[in-house]
Amino acid sequence: MEALKKVAGVTAAQYVTDGMTVGLGTGSTAYYFVEEIGRRVNEEGLQIVGVTTSSVTTKQAENLGIPLKSVDDIDSIDLTVDGADEVDKDFNGIKGGGAALLMEKIVATPTKEYIWVVDASKMVEHLGAFKLPVEVVQYGADRLFRVFEKAGYKPSFRMKGKDRLVTDMKNYIIDLDLGCIEDPVAFGHLLDETVGVVEHGLFNGMVDKVIVASKDGVTVLEAPKAV
Ligand code: 5RP
Repeated sequence: MEALKKVAGVTAAQYVTDGMTVGLGTGSTAYYFVEEIGRRVNEEGLQIVGVTTSSVTTKQAENLGIPLKSVDDIDSIDLTVDGADEVDKDFNGIKGGGAALLMEKIVATPTKEYIWVVDASKMVEHLGAFKLPVEVVQYGADRLFRVFEKAGYKPSFRMKGKDRLVTDMKNYIIDLDLGCIEDPVAFGHLLDETVGVVEHGLFNGMVDKVIVASKDGVTVLEAPKAV
């Protein structure tokens, strides 16, 4: 599995060229992409500026000597490479398994070419077997939890040890055990309109390419262009 993640990450790095502003994703697959970018910066003199999606990736990129900019100091990003937890046939996906979904969506939004790197186990018929992460402000989080419970979403607070996990943006994560999300777009809109929800892990129709590594090799899936 680790080898597949590495293949996907290194393949994605081939899309990076001199002069680009590059979004650096979070997670165990994006890790290999960032490592490869670091290698190319150091060994090949690749000239890029990175924009990170979590404190973990910031630390990794700094250790590798990748030049970084804040998302506040850029207007657009040429290419972002990130992982995903599930991807369906309509190129909708669930992200946030690594608790970085808010920063990841903020970086993905001004990105011109958005690429996910996954192993084949992440490709699914319907989203929802993976618990959907929802980032909520701390104020009112218990009330919101009960709202989700009453709606039948089987919520659970993401924990770190015996405490609730606090994200880089100082929020909580409530994971929803939905089983199958029949209409990810509609459910995404519903969460967008829920007060107290800062962001959710449904990344619908955002991705341009999915690089899928399996034991048979690498496949690059292209999302249909919006008309
Ligand atoms: C972090 C994420 C990750 O990209 C996602 O969880 C996939 O991670 P991994 O490659 O480790 O399976 O969304 O918030």
